Amino acid sequence: MRPETPAPVRLEDYRPPAYGITTVHLDIRLAPQATRVRARLAVSPAEGTEAGTPLVLDGDELKLVALALDGRVLAEDAIRVSPDRLEILSPPAGPFTLEMETELDPDANTRLMGLYRSNGTYCTQCEAEGFRRITYFLDRPDCLAVYTTRIEARKGDAPVLLGNGNPVEHGDVPGTDRHYAIWHDPHPKPSYLFAMVAGDLARVSDSFTTSEGRDVALNIYVEHGNEGACDWAMDSLKRSMRWDEEAFGRAYDLDVFNIVAVSDFNMGAMENKGLNIFNDKYVLAEPDTATDQDYAGIETVIAHEYFHNWTGNRITCRDWFQLCLKEGLTVFRDQEFSADQRSRAVKRIADVRLLKSHQFPEDAGPLAHPVRPRLYHEINNFYTATVYEKGSEVVRMLKCLLGDVAFRTGMDLYFDRHDGEATTIEAFLACFQEASGVDLAQFALWYEQAGTPMVRAESHYAKETGRFTLTLRQQVPPTPKQADKKPMHIPVRVALIGRDGRELRPASVTGAEMTGDVIHLRETSQTVTFTGLAERPVPSILRGFSAPVSLNSDLADEDLLFLAANDSDPFNRWAALQTVVMNALIAASACVARQEPVTLPDALVAAIEANTVDGTLEHAFRALCLQLPGEADIAREIGHDVDPEAIRIARAAVRRTIADRMARAIAAEYAGLASTDAFSPEAAAAGRRSLRNVLLDYIGHGESGSDGALVRAHFEQADNMTDRLAALNVLVHAALPGHEDALASFAARHKANPLAMDKWFMVQATAAQDETLDKVRALTRHPAFSAGNPNRVRALIGAFATGNQSQFNRADGAGFDYVAGFARELDRRNPQAAARLLSAFRSWRALEPERRKHAEAALRHLASDDGLSADMRDIVDRCLQ
Ligand code: BES
Ligand code: ZN
Repeated sequence: MRPETPAPVRLEDYRPPAYGITTVHLDIRLAPQATRVRARLAVSPAEGTEAGTPLVLDGDELKLVALALDGRVLAEDAIRVSPDRLEILSPPAGPFTLEMETELDPDANTRLMGLYRSNGTYCTQCEAEGFRRITYFLDRPDCLAVYTTRIEARKGDAPVLLGNGNPVEHGDVPGTDRHYAIWHDPHPKPSYLFAMVAGDLARVSDSFTTSEGRDVALNIYVEHGNEGACDWAMDSLKRSMRWDEEAFGRAYDLDVFNIVAVSDFNMGAMENKGLNIFNDKYVLAEPDTATDQDYAGIETVIAHEYFHNWTGNRITCRDWFQLCLKEGLTVFRDQEFSADQRSRAVKRIADVRLLKSHQFPEDAGPLAHPVRPRLYHEINNFYTATVYEKGSEVVRMLKCLLGDVAFRTGMDLYFDRHDGEATTIEAFLACFQEASGVDLAQFALWYEQAGTPMVRAESHYAKETGRFTLTLRQQVPPTPKQADKKPMHIPVRVALIGRDGRELRPASVTGAEMTGDVIHLRETSQTVTFTGLAERPVPSILRGFSAPVSLNSDLADEDLLFLAANDSDPFNRWAALQTVVMNALIAASACVARQEPVTLPDALVAAIEANTVDGTLEHAFRALCLQLPGEADIAREIGHDVDPEAIRIARAAVRRTIADRMARAIAAEYAGLASTDAFSPEAAAAGRRSLRNVLLDYIGHGESGSDGALVRAHFEQADNMTDRLAALNVLVHAALPGHEDALASFAARHKANPLAMDKWFMVQATAAQDETLDKVRALTRHPAFSAGNPNRVRALIGAFATGNQSQFNRADGAGFDYVAGFARELDRRNPQAAARLLSAFRSWRALEPERRKHAEAALRHLASDDGLSADMRDIVDRCLQ
């Protein structure tokens, strides 16, 4: 029998802590296997706490070696202690000081939570509940304290000693080979924002003067040898700091801002106060080893973590149910930053593609949960696309509904009113309600109701009366534990497009409240009437993707292709084309299943070609128009009884048809895009590469490129990773002549660079060929692979599970068994990484019966295992629910 699953944590059970901790003094004496941590906490009972109420501190695998209260050792019966809890049974009625010493083994910490070593560097990761692996504490975000940290280590091992806040003092420990540094962070913060780093690291420095006149020293610490790969990260940091001042009026508040890149890190990066710790993948970039996507990712993640300084650190979350308060809002801010740095339309399309490919499937499957969940078993599993991406969409909708000015006023009020607090979504929304006068009670449902709302739009035009009506119906599908849903407040941005492509101005609009061009859809069904229209307009609905809904309209392909050529909103221009393409791919998948030939309407090919060759459009936009939705996107739209193999064949046939029917245009555009300019990571040059590489993909998968010569030339002539990797992908995925040599030459060139080798693993793991699973198995024994490194696992096993639909979902179930088995092994080492990998199963119920049976069997096999971590147990149980 497996042990009882521990009780879940519920939002309604939130109570403020009985004790507060106002200051924390830490003295950390580092040693690889026996680090000693002394903590001195100033504790006081909260108002209303009855005298004698036990103080209960959190721990996790801790070893207590000493304990004193107000300088006195406590009697054995005055405390209760275990590795995951320390209770002071009858503390004093007034303020007191608690001193503790714990002993840690950083080398044995493979979970990468708490204090661990990455390639010899000591580092910490405390969000969400890692601080309790360092010392006993009220490890919850509403316990705000001022931290002073003394770090001591052997000088030779760790010449660099970093903590939160500002440096105060450093020096040698007399008579030893050790030295120390003291850091002080004046801003009260929750324990999850604590960090320290110690190691032999190289430093790249710069500086920034804030709008308030503060000179800030900026440092990026990396392993020796990587100093040359920090320029882009530093540049992104300075642009982020300026942008937050300009766009949100928020300036930095310490004298130093340190970033450390480490190679073993579960997540992308972490916003610890004044000491951000990054997965090196989001810091290091050089043209030869990083793709344009990597550069864009670095810009985004640097900005995101920096922006947390205000949205997350200065104002933090009361409890972990409020996670979207910092994450959704900060994603919104980083998206806006990137949009301002690059092309707004292209960025919006990229964000919506990500939302649809990651969040929509989550919302449609067994792991669906509200943006603000009400219950969790394991908080680590709630750093999800829903909390992040949908959380950002909710903030974006607020801005859309209230308008730019009221939105900014609301943000200012939020910063003003809640600075220094741990707060809630209710408090956040109240600021916008006050700033705008708009009642947000119904809007708040976006935080409560899971599931992607379905919006159906039907339109009718009456020539005689010049009236155009648009009927909008909404329905929120049932999700786990939420069968019945209420109608939501949905902003639907619309325009009516005339035959000449211009927006038509109606004489009047009735049937719904409108602010500007935004319809406030609040009812289950609403009909909006536009009058004074002399010609039949084509409605452009949900412009800019004004709400995270699944839109379905009665527009014919002809109208959609008209929008694809004429819509003045570039997002909807792209979306209209995508809708027609998606319908064609779904139809093609059905054809394959019936063993009928795949066909493609001429008008669709013509529309794709028109956008591809339109020199007035941005390169990156043209690339997006030409790129087909992925196999997983098609599966999501089909939604049930999915046959991934039929989808793969259908998509390949459509790609082949486009490649051959557009062969001349593709060849001409490709030839015209060659560039002799020096490499630049900026958006314009990246956009040019993206179009050229999408064209290359068609060439390699078409008749004209089948000898592989052009793709090989592209590979060999590439002077940057974006082009080299694009060509390698085509060579391997189309199995073109020379692909083995190309793989070997790539590996020879990049074998010393783990991040570049991740791309090599990924290319092979995503090949839709029957041999891939065996290849993946074999690659786990490659010298560049390591199951202890989350980046390597994501690049090989993660890419196979989420980026290779047909092979992960093999009809014989071998893909499921392999990934489930790998996750089971990984779980012993790193539960958080294992649980993440396992969420690849989240869409299993949408598969056709045979595959569904195999997926379920793999999950049930895991479920019967007594030894699963809480992280894995949570995912397995919810997937099977
Ligand atoms: N606070 C998170 C990092 C984190 C996540 C720590 C989960 C512990 C558990 C950080 O701000 C973050 O959100 N990072 C993202 C990248 C970001 C650009 C969305 C990440 O790590 O993926
Ligand atoms: Zn974040």
